[in-house]
Order: sequence, then C-alpha cells, then structure tokens
Amino acid sequence: MRTHYCGALRSGDIGAEVVLCGWAHRRRDHGGVIFIDLRDRDGLVQVVFDPDTPEVFRLAEQVRSEFVLQVRGRVRPRPAGTENPDMPTGQVEALGLGLEILNASETPPFQLDAHAQDASEEVRLRYRYLDLRRPEMQERLRTRGRVTRALRTYLDAHGFLDIETPILTKSTPEGARDYLVPSRTHPGEFFALPQSPQLFKQLLMMSGMDRYYQIARCFRDEDLRADRQPEFTQLDIEVSFMSEDDLMGLMEAMIRGLFREVLSVELPDPFPRMTYAEAIRRFGSDRPDLRFALELIDVGDLMREVDFKVFSGAANDPEGRVAALRLPLGGELSRKEIDDYAKFVGIYGARGLAYIKVNEWGAKGREGLQSPILKFLPDAAVDGIMSRTGGQDGDLIFFGADKATVVNESLGALRVRLGQDRGLMETGWRPLWVVDFPMFERDEHTGRWVALHHPFTAPKEDQLDLLETDPRACTSRAYDMVLNGTEIGGGSIRIHRESVQRRIFQLLKISDEQAEDRFGFLLRALKLGCPPHGGIAFGLDRLVMLMTGSASIRDVMAFPKTQTAACLLTSAPSPVDEAQLNELALRIRLRP
Ligand code: AMO
Ligand code: AMP
Repeated sequence: MRTHYCGALRSGDIGAEVVLCGWAHRRRDHGGVIFIDLRDRDGLVQVVFDPDTPEVFRLAEQVRSEFVLQVRGRVRPRPAGTENPDMPTGQVEALGLGLEILNASETPPFQLDAHAQDASEEVRLRYRYLDLRRPEMQERLRTRGRVTRALRTYLDAHGFLDIETPILTKSTPEGARDYLVPSRTHPGEFFALPQSPQLFKQLLMMSGMDRYYQIARCFRDEDLRADRQPEFTQLDIEVSFMSEDDLMGLMEAMIRGLFREVLSVELPDPFPRMTYAEAIRRFGSDRPDLRFALELIDVGDLMREVDFKVFSGAANDPEGRVAALRLPLGGELSRKEIDDYAKFVGIYGARGLAYIKVNEWGAKGREGLQSPILKFLPDAAVDGIMSRTGGQDGDLIFFGADKATVVNESLGALRVRLGQDRGLMETGWRPLWVVDFPMFERDEHTGRWVALHHPFTAPKEDQLDLLETDPRACTSRAYDMVLNGTEIGGGSIRIHRESVQRRIFQLLKISDEQAEDRFGFLLRALKLGCPPHGGIAFGLDRLVMLMTGSASIRDVMAFPKTQTAACLLTSAPSPVDEAQLNELALRIRLRP
C-alpha cells in the first residue's frame, strides 16, 4: 500500500512521487492551505494540501486527529525559512496529490503529542493502543526488541540452547505468593504459574543440556512498585561445569556487548565487586547506587554511654546499629524539608531522624552546631562524630538508631532520595557485582531461618560445617548484578548433592514430607547423576527501563498492569460464569 515510511523521507527523495500510509497526527489550516503531520512507526512528515486540487483538498478538510490515511504525494523541499531542524524529515514535505481516508477516528481521549504525559496513567492504560502510537513509546519497544536480539545473538554464539519450560506447573520458591490455576480434570487441585523457571532449568542441566537460556515470563503475586510487575520477563540462564567466576565473566561480557551495541556505551571491564557486608555497611543496601558518594558511617561505639536512650539502646543491642549520613551543604535544608525526610524514613520503620546542623564548627566548636540531640551528647561523642563524618560548616548530618535492618533500610533509602533531590548523581553507568551473600536470614515473625536467595543456592564449599554450627555466618555462592542502584540480575551456583540439599531443608525446617511433596522430583534427580551447575536471571524489563531512561517498567512493557495488578485495557481480572466455576468445582466465598 505504500512506497516509503513517513519518517524515512529526506532531501534525497525530493522530486519523487511517494505513497504514504499512517495516522493524522495534527492538522492545521493555514490561509487556504492544509497541513497534515502524517505519522507512522518511523516518524512524522508534513503533507501539504492546496486548493489547486479541489477534490483532494475537500477530503483533507474532513481529516481529524488519528484518521488513518493513504496519501499520494510529491516530495519537495520546504520553502526557505520553514525548515524544521528538530525533525529528521524537517527539510522536506510532501505535496498531497491524492488522499484516501482509510478509516475515521472518534476524538481520541487524549492528545498523542507532547501533552500526552498530562493524561492520567489510568486513561493511558485503558487506551494503551493509543498510548503506544506515541513515538516515545514506539522507541522504547523498538529498543526492547534490539536488546532481546543482541542478547539472543550473544548467547547463541556461546552455545546456549533456547529451551521453553512449562507455564502450568508447580509452585517455585522465589519468595512471592503464587498465581494459581484450577484444574478441571483434577477437581480441587491447582497449577501454580512459575515465579521463575528455576527448577526446570536445573533439571535441564541434569538432562545434559549444558547451556540453557530462555526469555521467560515469570509470575509473582507481590506488592507492586515502579520496578515490579506481577508478570515480568527474565533472561534466564543456566550452565553446567562452570565456576562462578567464569559464569560472571561470561555474563558481564554479554552486558558490556549489549550496552556497546544498543547505546554505544563502554562499561568497565571487569565490573567491580563488593561483598554484601560492605554494601550494607557503606550504603545500607545490597543494591548500592554508586553514582554518588554519600555513605553511612557507624557511630554506635560513640553512643554506648549517652543519655539518649534511643541511641544508647541501639548502640548496646547486638542487633542494633547507630549510623550517620552526612549531606554536604545540607545546612540549606528548611525545617519542613527535614521533617519531610523524617516522614520518609518512617515508611521504612524508622522512629525518628535525628540531625546535627553544622553552622560554624570550625570557629565555634560545639556552640557552632545546632541539633535537638546535642544536649545528650558529651564532647567526646561530638568530636568523634565530626571527625568520622568529616562534617564541614554548611553540612547536615542525619542519624539513624534502631535494629540494624531498620537503620540500613531507612538510611539506605534516604541516601538515594537525597542523591535524587539534591542532584548528586553523576550521569552514566555504574555496574557492579554484589557477592558473598549470607545463606540465611531470620524471619522476624517466626524466628525461623529463611534462604536469602532460594533454597537451591549452594553454600561456600569450605563453610558446609557452619550449616549446623553457625548458619548466620554461612555465606553462599550467590551473586547479584546491580546497575545504578537497581538489581538487574541475580543467580548462584546450585547445590548438586542431595545430602547437602537435605541439610539445607532441615535447617529451613522443611520436613522430609514437605520436601518430598514440593521438590521430590528435584531431590530424585539430584541422586541420578547431577552435574555441578549454576545460573543467573536478568530482569529484562528493568534492564530496558534503565537503558531507555524510563521511570517505570510499565513504560517498557506493551501491556502492563496497574499498581493493583489489574489490566485496565481488558478489565482483567473479572468474574466468571457460574457454569465455568462449576466445571472447575469451585465456589466463590467473599470475605465479609
Ligand atoms: P530473582 O528472584 O532475583 O532470581 O529474579 C531475577 C531478576 O528478575 C527481576 N525481577 C523482577 N522484575 C520485575 N518485576 C518483578 N516482580 C521482579 N522480580 C524479580 C530482577 C531480578 O534481579 N530463579 C532466580 C534466578 C537464579 O537463581 O538463576 C530468580 O528468579 O531484576
Ligand atoms: P525525641 O526526643 O523523641 O523528640 O527525639 C529527638 C530527636 O531524635 C528527633 O529529631 C527525632 O527525630 C530523633 N529520633 C528519635 N528516634 C530516633 C531513631 N530511632 N533514630 C534516629 N533518630 C531518632
């Protein structure tokens, strides 16, 4: 139906007769001449209709936004002074010789131009196909396509086999709630949608596939955020007979190649590595954003004796932490801004946000400091804080005192928030590996050990004895890839011996019956010649979100769900017929 894409026309096409198809992006009447910006996947071009061709002109008068058109025209240079250097096609225009309205459109519920961002996300999701017509959205999906192609090409070249795994399956333990699917043929029984292909990819190693990958859909019923969707995509990978260093090397080379090909960016070689303990200590987070320098500084030892219970209590609690965070030039913050930050850390369980304003420390010593907690702090503590944080006149020093987990999460989040609010982030890319994760953490509510990654992650070989003696000290062979403060991938070397797997289940208080019921198939396979193996999964949506500079993974998914895990376009989820329920042997009982 067409000879050219609209966005492809250039000066070299001047004089050519072309046929274009697309949508009327904008129509303007200018003193007897009609301008239509015609848009297709490739971009926009200006088409001019003048009254010399009255029939065509009359038709052009009927065109409104989002009408679908076929235009026959001649490419010509734009008159001097009317060129648009901001448009790739801005040197030329098409003089309309023929026009067919292929389809009309009702007035769209929002403008697809620069003002589209003003429309609520709800409207944009309800009319997702309109939102996706916008050039920014098309560009994001185009980039996503280039990313998956580059990843596939790399993995193909390195001998990985693309193998699909089931969607209707059994629960996989990635720590989220399952999506369940009732079985008609087995009344009262359910499939679970996979939280990841974890168990199947391990079975594929036991099947001798050696190197596997899959661009796999994963389903997790968890609380949603900007970088979490109930249904998302992993680049899922597993290999046999490879050490973690070799696998990490192969994976970072893949990511380096990806950034080179798609963004023309050179990432560091090798990626820096940081232990989990160091990341938590310095940044309060296991996905530190290294684009700015603020760090948490321990001051607990200075606070053991102070008169302020909140601080001395945390300082003397073996599970507590007292840490400082110095914000250079933070003295400018208003009282209201400081109060807002105190509210913000409250989200993470912090019960307050103490601070010291450094006005004139140099000239006046402690008289030059201003703080609601100063009265509790002896000189030695003040001196210690100032020398350890390197506080300068004009700075503000924040404090967190609580259980270490609360301090880490709240000051870790505050650190990132300050980095954004105060414009401290350098541009560019700061990838790193986080390694030496603890195997286990204590569930606060039940007091039980839970696996920090998943229960198939191998402990370090020389630490096997710790499983029974000191689980807290046991570190795993897991690794996360972090980019600019986002965890883009995570994986581990797996347990390949059944005896070790059983010890882990024992420690996690998974009984033999439960283990048999949930993972019996895996335990049997471990006894039938299982190779050493390991792998990783990348969050493809997160990767593309970062690479396209998008604020949310919703922006890089064609049909995402809302924060409450609904699809506004199709109105899913939705009630089903009584007949369908009967067939599935289900009855709905709504909570009172
Ligand atoms: P993990 O649970 O860390 O590991 O997931 C791997 C990566 O997937 C991304 N991700 C998500 N992206 C969007 N929405 C979500 N709800 C979501 N949850 C996770 C993250 C994360 O780094 N089977 C293991 C991998 C392995 O051990 O090989 C797993 O699924 O970027
Ligand atoms: P209060 O005596 O409760 O008014 O607290 C004095 C200062 O300490 C206030 O600035 C509080 O925000 C702060 N504060 C209280 N609890 C904590 C805590 N757990 N960690 C950090 N600062 C706190």
